Amino acid sequence: MIEIKNLTKKFKTSHGTLTVFDAFNLAVKDGTFLGVQGKSGAGKSTLLSLLAGLQKPDSGSITVDGTEITALGEKQLAAFRNRSVGYISQEQSFLENLTVFDNVRLPAYISKRCEADSEISVRAQKLLEELGIAHLANQYPQDLSGGENHRVLIARALINDPKLILADEPTDSVDSDRTTAIITLFKGLAQSGKTVILVSHDEQALRLCDEVICL
Ligand SMILES: Nc1ncnc2c1ncn2[C@@H]1O[C@H](COP(=O)(O)OP(=O)(O)O)[C@@H](O)[C@H]1O
Ligand SMILES: [Mg+2]
Repeated sequence: MIEIKNLTKKFKTSHGTLTVFDAFNLAVKDGTFLGVQGKSGAGKSTLLSLLAGLQKPDSGSITVDGTEITALGEKQLAAFRNRSVGYISQEQSFLENLTVFDNVRLPAYISKRCEADSEISVRAQKLLEELGIAHLANQYPQDLSGGENHRVLIARALINDPKLILADEPTDSVDSDRTTAIITLFKGLAQSGKTVILVSHDEQALRLCDEVICL
């Protein structure tokens, strides 16, 4: 599913060049639930953002599901992200004038898969129910708590049924019962053949992963 070869990623900072990845390699098979842990600043978020094609490495290649994403142009990358990746970022970004339900459905409308509105809505409703936020469907993101919005982010990331799910500390602002529900949802997705990469510090969550790497 994922093959990272000889990856180098550096940032220019006021103190000089910071090398976050230097000749980094990783291979992840389809259907793996991979945990990623590491100290703050280790490069966990950078890794997910590179896999989502939101950043480019300085050198090396990243192949996802047979496509070398490091060779794609911006337009192709945007299509790849919309179709194949469910990215749950650490920061929450929503369209504030859209309800929770519309924020969750939006990626499905962008995908041009020619689905009926009703199909999209049924899927969105099911995701909201699985995540325990169906009662918030008609509210606006700014009226929700951090933990509730994190679950909206997860629903939105899953609406296009992506093959690759990238979750950056998705249970940070969520209570422990809800954490179990979210991790169980991810585990089920991996068991159905999706690849899930979970960045987390939560031992309870990492225990359920098939493999854990430390950056
Ligand atoms: N756009 C950027 N410009 C400069 N430095 C960055 C940038 N993004 C990340 N970094 C630095 O790269 C390192 C890794 O960041 P990050 O991947 O966010 O770490 P983690 O998610 O493991 O806490 C940190 O030292 C961070 O400050
Ligand atoms: Mg991070």
